[in-house]
Amino acid sequence: MKALILSGGKGTRLRPLTYTGAKQLVPVANKPILWYGIESLVAAGITDIGIIVSPETGGEIEAKTGSGAQFGAQITYIRQDSPDGLAHAVKIARPFLQDQPFVMYLGDNLIQDGLSEFVQTFTAKALDALILLKPVPNPTAFGVAEVDDDGRVLRLVEKPPDPPSNLALVGVYLFSAQVQAAIDQIQPSARGELEITDAIQQLIDSQQTVEAQTLGGWCLDTGKKDDLLEANRIILDEYLGPAQLKGEIDAASQVSGRVTLGAGSTLVNCTVRGPVIIGENCRLENCFVGAYSSIGSNVTLTDVEIDHSVVLQGATIVGINQRIVDSLIGQRARLTTAPQRPKALRFLVGDDSQIELA
Ligand code: DAU
Repeated sequence: MKALILSGGKGTRLRPLTYTGAKQLVPVANKPILWYGIESLVAAGITDIGIIVSPETGGEIEAKTGSGAQFGAQITYIRQDSPDGLAHAVKIARPFLQDQPFVMYLGDNLIQDGLSEFVQTFTAKALDALILLKPVPNPTAFGVAEVDDDGRVLRLVEKPPDPPSNLALVGVYLFSAQVQAAIDQIQPSARGELEITDAIQQLIDSQQTVEAQTLGGWCLDTGKKDDLLEANRIILDEYLGPAQLKGEIDAASQVSGRVTLGAGSTLVNCTVRGPVIIGENCRLENCFVGAYSSIGSNVTLTDVEIDHSVVLQGATIVGINQRIVDSLIGQRARLTTAPQRPKALRFLVGDDSQIELA
């Protein structure tokens, strides 16, 4: 069995964090989202992995993720010249997929459940498609399934204004080679994309075997902004190991709970309450870092209180005299203030940024 991870697309919903980069490389607990998907596939024994990339961000994804050797996988990069839809991505991957069954994994999705059980069901029942569903409060933002009382899939619709159920399609799908014939039958949707939901509907209409399973664990689509902080919280909660302190901590600092401090990082007069991850070569002075915070590498924090937030690499925050909460701070961003209580706020804020003085 092969895998196809979709990491192309435009990523507009996470702007401005992804103006300059791939949304699949945005870190959750200091690790790119995409890598969780790769690790999950490898854990299920799938090591022959194709990754769909766009011309804009493909170079960055390839440079960072490499040949796959670090994951025990072999990665083939497949360029999709424009984001013409999930089914279009499967179509252009034909030379890689050949006629093998495959797992299609959306590169901005994270799911808690392991994949082995789904692979086993798919193989044992010789299905043409196995889709995963999850009840969600906002089905209009997803592909939605209508199922009968026996759990059989009757109909799939992409982002319906009037959803037939609250069962969203999760971004992990298992397909036989039959899906390619179905893709050849469909037309672009109203938004101009070849939709994978239409291809699955085509499989259903032509009496191929399509089954659905409901996910037991959580699933997050980190392409949607609020999910990124939530993903960070869940990953720190569930996966961060016992304290691992490689940096330097002075006598005035207090570190408690599960805290990872990367090599070359320094804490001076700081309180850090885990779960927290701090990358390499950071300098934190007179700071409080509260639970569920991820601080990327090469970050400088001085006189800062921060809680339940994600700070990306190279950012600098100095002397903000109120606690920073529920925040995402982009790469190389600078938030600074005068040593005394500031009399004015001076901003240089990029397009589509959001600042809330709560
Ligand atoms: O998160 C689950 C949802 O994912 C499903 O419920 C929907 O049925 C499915 O269409 C998809 O919706 P999204 O709007 O979230 O898809 P998005 O455009 O964000 O693309 C998902 C991933 O696929 C993302 O990593 C970008 C990549 N992609 C997207 C397109 C349109 C490609 O590689 N090529 C493409 O042409």
